[in-house]
Amino acid sequence: MKRIAVLTSGGDAPGMNAAIRSVVRTGLYHGLEVLGVRHGYQGLMEGDFIPLDSRSVAGVIHRGGTILYTARSERFKTLEGRDAALNQLRSGSVDGLVVIGGDGSYRGALKLAETGFPVVGIPGTIDNDIAGTDETIGYDSALNTALDSIRKLRDTASSHDRLFIVEVMGRESGFLALEVALASGAECVVLPETQFDECMICDQIHRAWDRKKDHFFIILAEGVMGAHELKARLEDTAGYTARFTVLGYLLRGGSPTCYDTNLATRMGSYSVEMLLDGHEGVMIGCVDHNMMINPLALAWEQKKQLNFDLLELMRIMNV
Ligand code: ADP
Ligand code: F6P
Repeated sequence: MKRIAVLTSGGDAPGMNAAIRSVVRTGLYHGLEVLGVRHGYQGLMEGDFIPLDSRSVAGVIHRGGTILYTARSERFKTLEGRDAALNQLRSGSVDGLVVIGGDGSYRGALKLAETGFPVVGIPGTIDNDIAGTDETIGYDSALNTALDSIRKLRDTASSHDRLFIVEVMGRESGFLALEVALASGAECVVLPETQFDECMICDQIHRAWDRKKDHFFIILAEGVMGAHELKARLEDTAGYTARFTVLGYLLRGGSPTCYDTNLATRMGSYSVEMLLDGHEGVMIGCVDHNMMINPLALAWEQKKQLNFDLLELMRIMNV
């Protein structure tokens, strides 16, 4: 293996730049040439490659977003699109590819790997919805951004005795919502993984006001419904007045935390080692603080489980 390429795909996440930097520098350390592919699979099909040396990734370890840009591409889902990508890889004399992204990006990566092209995936998404790794790159940063925001909202909520709904990203999963709900001391969390129970929420609100609480926070995972919808339902059915904030894309931005930065650096480096060791069609994971590999398909064949103990802990904290 002489030349490898790296791309970022799907939603950006804090720490992606640290992972790119690590892929580049580990590649150089092993005497490889490294190319960056801009705009994800779209750029791969168009041959949008740039050579990356050690200086190209200087000053990016702490930056959010992705210096390689990211994209979503319908064309890459077609055989024609992937053939175009393979042709670009071959004409650029690329021997291996590192894909940093979420499970959608992995599906594309596996299709490439199935043609015999060496591909290794790195889990980069704030959603943390990928099996085979305890955390994905960006998750810890998004958690901390959400926590900071909710703490600020709590100041104003408590000053006005208000009911607040805070909607957080996470696609179809509730990892972000559950962990930040516990850390922020929220009274209630609404997750896609549990049955939606409006009566139970109303009962919790009622009991909190009875206990003279001066705020009530509902952390809502976007995969359940929008905050505006939950607000309308609580107002219509129970007469509660609620304010809401959608944290949305704020959670994707900002500097990666120390945890995410080092996770990205470890995963980036390990991905190159795995390519050099001849592994193909695998994803990098970090389980119990150890780097490991699993087949890419694990990302969607196995549903990552929420830690429901945290939900129970929330109930205890809200005694
Ligand atoms: P994420 O990687 O964050 O889950 P997406 O689900 O949007 O983000 O996937 C990113 C890109 O991966 C898509 O735009 C598409 O180009 C590619 N992709 C997703 N699913 C497939 C698939 N089944 N086959 C080929 N490529 C796919
Ligand atoms: O997968 C990351 C994520 O930020 C999800 O939390 C969110 O649902 C989605 O991407 C938003 O995607 P887009 O950038 O296409 O609006």
